[in-house]
Amino acid sequence: MTMTFNRALVTGASGGIGAGFARALAAAGTEVVLVARRRDRLAELAEELEQLHQVSVEVMPTDLADSAAIDPVIQRLADSDRPVDLLVNNAGQLTNGPFAELPLAGELQQIQVNVIAPMRLTHAALPGMIKRRHGGVINVSSIGGEAPSAYGAGYCGSKAFLTLFSQSLAIDVKRHGVHVTALLPGFTWSGDRRDLSPDAAISRRAVQEPDRVAREALVAVAAGRALCVPGLRNKRAVAIGRMVPRRVMNAVLASVNATISAAPQGPPGTARPQDHPTS
Ligand SMILES: NC(=O)c1ccc[n+]([C@@H]2O[C@H](COP(=O)([O-])OP(=O)(O)OC[C@H]3O[C@@H](n4cnc5c(N)ncnc54)[C@H](OP(=O)(O)O)[C@@H]3O)[C@@H](O)[C@H]2O)c1
Repeated sequence: MTMTFNRALVTGASGGIGAGFARALAAAGTEVVLVARRRDRLAELAEELEQLHQVSVEVMPTDLADSAAIDPVIQRLADSDRPVDLLVNNAGQLTNGPFAELPLAGELQQIQVNVIAPMRLTHAALPGMIKRRHGGVINVSSIGGEAPSAYGAGYCGSKAFLTLFSQSLAIDVKRHGVHVTALLPGFTWSGDRRDLSPDAAISRRAVQEPDRVAREALVAVAAGRALCVPGLRNKRAVAIGRMVPRRVMNAVLASVNATISAAPQGPPGTARPQDHPTS
């Protein structure tokens, strides 16, 4: 049965796919709670949504990499007087480079934002949803979590975790009337940028609009689908990737990765680092 949502909390709402989620939700009359670090961007978006759609918007500037700073967001999710019935764990960070040469602090911060924060927020949101027998969670993973990639060990590992975590959780909580969806975008315009670097190995047609990605995910969570891969190209890539035996895939990727190592770029399923402000 298709589910509707009254109030959503969206992390990483200050740009890109997260802002796309906030716009699509507000346009459908859903109240939104916006979470990210950049207070000014959140305030601007809140004003836009309130004026355009007359919905109530809350703003919670938060650094999700800071384990203590998350507490107010956790409390907000547990507040049964103003229940949040859709949680969108969208905020993400991307590091890129040979793992041994990257600063460990950045790698750990990436795990904090991509893995620990979504897990903590989901854990805070679920009891109320289960009690009310109504709710949804979207975890924004990546097609980059589907296969190994040179220079993407931390990022790909974090997204692989998030995909399987979400799919497992979807089975666990479905009987309580809660829908969980792992969203696996491919290349998507990030932040405010709509240009590619001249040496980009991808064509503009392969890059999706954040709003479209968000809309597809909202349809999927409403319908109770545990996996959403937006766009035909990405669907095809993931389907083929899952059919090919892992050892064949690894051999192919080893040769692709040798090229990547020669000309560093982000792992598959992310815009190149210079196009991706979270890198
Ligand atoms: N773009 C792609 O090609 C692509 C592909 C696959 C998956 N994804 C995933 O999609 C999600 C959204 O990415 P995007 O492309 O829309 O990127 P983006 O435009 O760079 O947005 C990232 C969002 O995450 C927030 N964020 C980052 N670190 C944060 C922190 N420590 N605390 C709170 N918020 C934080 C940023 O807000 P502040 O800077 O204001 O904190 C921003 O709103 C990410 O999980 C990403 O991994 C993206």
